[in-house]
Amino acid sequence: MTAATTPSPRTASAPPRLPGRPVLGHLSSFRNDRVGMLLRLAKTHPEIVEMPMGLARRVVVVSSPALVHEVLSTKQSAFVKAPGLAVFLRPVLGGGLLTSERAVHERQRRLLAPAFAHKRIASYAETMATRAERFAAGLEDGAPLDLAEAMMRLTFEIVGKTLFDAEVVGDARAVGEALTTAMEVAMGQLGSVVPLPPMIPSPQNLRYKRAVARLDEIVYRIIRERRAEGADRGDVLSMLLDARDEDGAAMTDRQVRDEAMTLFLAGHETTANALSWTFYLLARHPEARARMEAELDALDRTPSYEDLKALPYTLAVFKEAMRLYPPAYVLGRKPVEDVVIGDRLVRKGSIVLANVLGIHRREDLWPDPEAFDPARFLGDKERQLPRCAYMPFGAGPRVCIGNHFALMEGHVLLATIARRVRFELRSAEPVELEPLITLRPRGGIAMRAHVRG
Ligand code: HEM
Repeated sequence: MTAATTPSPRTASAPPRLPGRPVLGHLSSFRNDRVGMLLRLAKTHPEIVEMPMGLARRVVVVSSPALVHEVLSTKQSAFVKAPGLAVFLRPVLGGGLLTSERAVHERQRRLLAPAFAHKRIASYAETMATRAERFAAGLEDGAPLDLAEAMMRLTFEIVGKTLFDAEVVGDARAVGEALTTAMEVAMGQLGSVVPLPPMIPSPQNLRYKRAVARLDEIVYRIIRERRAEGADRGDVLSMLLDARDEDGAAMTDRQVRDEAMTLFLAGHETTANALSWTFYLLARHPEARARMEAELDALDRTPSYEDLKALPYTLAVFKEAMRLYPPAYVLGRKPVEDVVIGDRLVRKGSIVLANVLGIHRREDLWPDPEAFDPARFLGDKERQLPRCAYMPFGAGPRVCIGNHFALMEGHVLLATIARRVRFELRSAEPVELEPLITLRPRGGIAMRAHVRG
């Protein structure tokens, strides 16, 4: 729609409303079948739809790439992050990059950008490959493992080493448990009729508080040790500790903690889920796996950063897995003013959900959308897609700052691990999706490792 034909908030009509179900009915779908609901809505309402949910909540689901582009990019100034993240994850993330807004967000993004510059990221490849190699070499032939847990530990270890020059392997279990609690509570609140903000001392919130205290202990320990050492190690932690604002003031420990916690969480949970789904899909699609293994075997050495160019199919496998199972499967925003999206009025205070999962499985964009077909991402096919048709990393000014880091990590880890080991599923039952804030495999992924000869 051109600017000339875009109606104003006064003249635009509301989005179509989801018909026929009572208010609480939508809430229970959201709570019990979020994935099914998002996939259905992308088919029944491929543009925009409004559904009343709970007592005072108006949820608007946007399932067209063009309209999502408006929400996340061209009209992003009318929005802030939705309360799911901003309120319920606040005890974990505080005012870090993922949850901050406006001028504070811009300043923090500028501050952190150098850590994610292309050259810097390339220098992380070696750490990623070394850690992946060590993980794969430690697997015995025929050994059972929960691949989802293993990937969580590995990506956590990598973010600790690359960004904070810290060894955090010993903390992985505590962090995993605390984050799971935090996400479960946050999602439980979002799907409840009367959400209880984190400061209300309900049993759930107390559990949450304990989980956050455990995370704090770990992150403050890392900060304390570095402050005591006083050295500039050229990593993100040194950058945060050295940063000065316009008045020359350094960041407080609390600010450093918020940024560090954000990077720890955002930097490992999503990548781990993406890799878990990738190995799951490969185990169910031996033809794609054989093609990828042939590409890896042709290289005949542990892949270095320079070698990645020679492994396009491996990268395509990772990207296609994130199409079918985008770790950030829905992105929430809240309009701070009435705003017109497409030609529909989205009212101030609604919750707008950009339906990433639904868009990634739209038949008009992805022929045979349920099929796992990495070839969709070979050559320049990705560039020919409409804007926001593929958006595992979001879009606009809040696009994932770790986008290139994550793609390289997925590429390196997949290549390094799959050269040495092949994972087989221990059960023929499909793994279910567990849509918390990220899209996790429910109950993990029970695999068996087979060392490749
Ligand atoms: C496959 C892996 C990853 C996926 C799928 C992913 C996805 C996303 C998405 C969709 C957003 C935007 C959220 C929104 O618009 O509401 C985001 C933001 C963010 N991501 Fe990632 N991410 C990944 C890896 C990483 C890594 C490795 C890091 C850091 C090392 C990271 C750090 C962040 C941060 C700090 C933000 C907030 C950016 C801002 O608001 O300016 N992510 N991520």
